[in-house]
Amino acid sequence: MPMIVNSWNEWDPLKHIIVGRADGTMVQAPEPAVVRDWPEYGFPLGTYGPLPKDMEDAANEQLDNFVTLLEKHGVTVDRPEPLDFRQSVSTPDWKQDSMFGIMPPRDILLTVGNEIVEATMSARSRWFEFLAYRPLLQRYFKEDPNFRWEAAPKPRLTDKSYVDGIEFWEYAESMPDEEQIERFTMNKQWNLTEEEPLFDAADVGRFGKDLFVQRSTTTNGAGIDWLRRHFPEHRVHEVLFYEAHPMHIDATFIPLRPGLALSNRQRVPLTEEMKQLFALNDWEIVPCAEPALDEKPPLCFCSVWLSMNTLLLDENTIFVEEQEKAQQEQFYQLGFEVIPVPFWAVGPFGGGLHCATADVYREGTLQDYFPKQIPGY
Ligand code: ALA
Repeated sequence: MPMIVNSWNEWDPLKHIIVGRADGTMVQAPEPAVVRDWPEYGFPLGTYGPLPKDMEDAANEQLDNFVTLLEKHGVTVDRPEPLDFRQSVSTPDWKQDSMFGIMPPRDILLTVGNEIVEATMSARSRWFEFLAYRPLLQRYFKEDPNFRWEAAPKPRLTDKSYVDGIEFWEYAESMPDEEQIERFTMNKQWNLTEEEPLFDAADVGRFGKDLFVQRSTTTNGAGIDWLRRHFPEHRVHEVLFYEAHPMHIDATFIPLRPGLALSNRQRVPLTEEMKQLFALNDWEIVPCAEPALDEKPPLCFCSVWLSMNTLLLDENTIFVEEQEKAQQEQFYQLGFEVIPVPFWAVGPFGGGLHCATADVYREGTLQDYFPKQIPGY
């Protein structure tokens, strides 16, 4: 029987991956975790609906092109099955007027070795997103006797899981970034309470035995605690960065190869123990290049730092957005072969090259890249 699922870090040779789809992606209906207010592009506060069809087609064209490119490099690619994301969804606790989409599988699927965990997620519109991946996960389960298939406890997501819902965001948006960083980041609390474990898979950086998990607007302390108890063979470290609205670690801090990591030049690490751990084990941390864009494109909830949201084919070869020339140049200087990929049209659907993918198989085994540890961290 074949081994299908195996991936311990972000840089081992990539052989099998899931790539998302733009089909039917929504500007989500309002909910306590999500506020969209884009009047200039047809979605003023409180409104919702599918992203424009021409944008969807352009994003799907770039996603399909990326799939072809991956296959040319010997990578097997699977795709999720879209649902009707316009539908309302409910649990006994709440009703939500729309779903979201399935462009960013990285947000929900956390691959650690021979296991894939479906993350809790922290938005009601994303509660049922796992259904789009179930055909793939069921198949891996049937075909790979070693595949550990896990779903983190589905959260209740009642109002108790959120700080003041939409009012939180209105309040936060009224402050300058520096004040928000002081008020929320330093207190490690934004919109989520500690009522129940909540995490998005994309808040986890996989560095072999060490998993670095960002405390954010999508991951709370209880979520990190759940991950720590769930992976007793790993060392799960909480990390924090200088950022007003942290959401997912993969445009903030990413490993490139053993001993080398790329750090967002603005969102610098704030966790002292993390900085010490990297220094103690002789890891070099380089600040990323400047992004090509000055501001986010229309209808995009991700940042211009998708410039560093890249995918490693192996520890010498990296997929980078085609127009991010400064970032490409930096990777050349660091000794990488760079494969440019047109991907800007995908951004409004939920991210860049790393967000749009979820690892299934990379050659390699569990290794310790941080043999010197800091007690208590
Ligand atoms: N949400 C992350 C960012 O936009 C990927 O920076």
